Amino acid sequence: MGLPKSMDLRCLLLNIVFISVVNAMLAFGIASQDERRCSVGRIEKLMRIRCYNMDLKEVPQNLKTSVEVLDLSYNRIRKLKSGSFQRYTDIKFLMLYENMILSVEPGTFAPLTALQEVDLSNNGLTTIPMELFALPRLRNLYVDSNELRELHQDLETLQRPIRAPLEYLNLANCDLHDIPDLGILPNLWQLNVSANPLTNFHIEKLANLCHLRVIDLTRTQIDSCDCQQVTNHLMTIGANPKFVPVCMDSLDSSVCPLPYNRTVNSETFRGCMDSAELAEVRSLWLFGAGCFGGVFLVILVLWYCIHRWRKRRAHRRLSQSIQNRKHFVISPRNATNNRMEDEPLHCDTASA
Ligand SMILES: *[C@@H]1O[C@H](CO)[C@@H](O)[C@H](O)[C@H]1NC(C)=O
Ligand SMILES: *[C@@H]1O[C@H](CO)[C@@H](O)[C@H](O)[C@H]1NC(C)=O
Repeated sequence: MGLPKSMDLRCLLLNIVFISVVNAMLAFGIASQDERRCSVGRIEKLMRIRCYNMDLKEVPQNLKTSVEVLDLSYNRIRKLKSGSFQRYTDIKFLMLYENMILSVEPGTFAPLTALQEVDLSNNGLTTIPMELFALPRLRNLYVDSNELRELHQDLETLQRPIRAPLEYLNLANCDLHDIPDLGILPNLWQLNVSANPLTNFHIEKLANLCHLRVIDLTRTQIDSCDCQQVTNHLMTIGANPKFVPVCMDSLDSSVCPLPYNRTVNSETFRGCMDSAELAEVRSLWLFGAGCFGGVFLVILVLWYCIHRWRKRRAHRRLSQSIQNRKHFVISPRNATNNRMEDEPLHCDTASA
């Protein structure tokens, strides 16, 4: 009877040990998963949170809301939802490259009014989220290495000129047949459309980009006349021809006319220049107004100080004269003297 009982006990003990080992392993597993937190730090005084390469499937919602640089690259995010960045409206730089983003819900980027740069490269996007072009601070946009193909339909609804002051645009390595028409982009200085089959390229597209300095048109299959026209145009506006495909054969102008009527001499180009000038004038005006405001404020403060000083001096004089007068009218010593004289008298009468 005793033997089987001890066997039972041993079995029970083994069971307990087994269960606790499994438990410990589970707990450790959860703990190690918990430890894979995003790292918080600073970069050039901006608050940066890095969540790269963490197998994330969604934008985490438990981060500090004051994040300014958010790195979500190398994850497995498939979809951006309209609430994804609702809590993080201070983001200035957003890295979303090397994910699997196929779709972006309308309203996803709209709350990011401080956004200056977004990198959506190496995803599966078939279009650019149009609301990006309405962001008031967006300067740098990377959408290269996506599946961009036909944007005409989406671009139809776009309000031009766009609000985003785009300076850098990378559309390389997609499937575009044309440079997308975003209207005038007076601040754009670098455009990368390399590795796209630009079979529909027309030189007029460059009239929108009056301050273009660098363009990468390598591996775009544009023909030799387009190539020559691009070179002509860029030389005229003083752009860097470094990344232009080198055109070996110079063509006769009867075969390939000079492009200037379609670029620098066009209404579009002038419109682009005017809008840039307007912005400059506006900022100059703002600067002037700021200076004027500053000077006005200084004068106001000075005037207030002088006024106060005068008032105080006048007040001091007045109170001095009042004190002087009081001294003559009711002397405190006289008053106490009076009481000292009165009180014994009063006492005397009371005791009497
Ligand atoms: C254009 O983009 C491609 C792909 O991202 C890159 O390899 C290339 O260096 C870029 N060109 C320039 C001029 O930056
Ligand atoms: C440009 O336009 C002007 C006037 O409209 C015309 O005389 C000139 O021949 C045109 N040049 C080219 C290269 O088309």
